[in-house]
Amino acid sequence: MTRVLVAFATRFGSTREIVSAMVHELNSTGIDAHAAEATSSLNPDHYDAFVIGSPIYGSKWLAAAGMFAAITSERIDGKPVALFSVGTLALNNSQAGEREHRDFVDNLADIAPKLNIVSNALFAGYFERSNLPWYLRIIDRFAPTPQGDHRDWQAIQSWTKSLVPKFTG
Ligand SMILES: Cc1cc2nc3c(=O)[nH]c(=O)nc-3n(C[C@H](O)[C@H](O)[C@H](O)COP(=O)(O)O)c2cc1C
Repeated sequence: MTRVLVAFATRFGSTREIVSAMVHELNSTGIDAHAAEATSSLNPDHYDAFVIGSPIYGSKWLAAAGMFAAITSERIDGKPVALFSVGTLALNNSQAGEREHRDFVDNLADIAPKLNIVSNALFAGYFERSNLPWYLRIIDRFAPTPQGDHRDWQAIQSWTKSLVPKFTG
């Protein structure tokens, strides 16, 4: 049975719920998937494939997820890895949002050339204006991000499903 680790970082929990949906979807196809917050204590030797994801804050992944991807790449010997970002910038400006995600994935691939990235995706997240520090609330007034839950469960489910042949083939 293929064992998959879905490693993630989160600040306010919306990425954790996305990961739960991914694990549910993978397990429904017969894969043995587990979710865990990305830390250096996770042992990648126990898994055949990886999904690694993070919300984007200030154009970057949370450090724990990026570090996990870079460090793990040295130990997993080319096993397949799928990356996903969660963000809300694309809701107002799809090009800028996609660019942030793509730039992060490209930088990670440069830093960690052994990472066998088989797929990547950007998902809309959950935006709560009150989570912004005061100086970002001022910036947000100029092009307000739509408040609320923008997660597209259908898109999350179908991307997760598309990983199965890449992980088991
Ligand atoms: C302070 C702050 C900065 C953010 N910066 C970005 C950003 O640069 N790009 C983006 O697409 N989304 C940005 N977001 C939106 C978050 O990525 C989104 O709310 C996500 O769902 C949060 O995930 P979490 O609940 O797992 O922490 C930001 C949100 C906050 C509160």
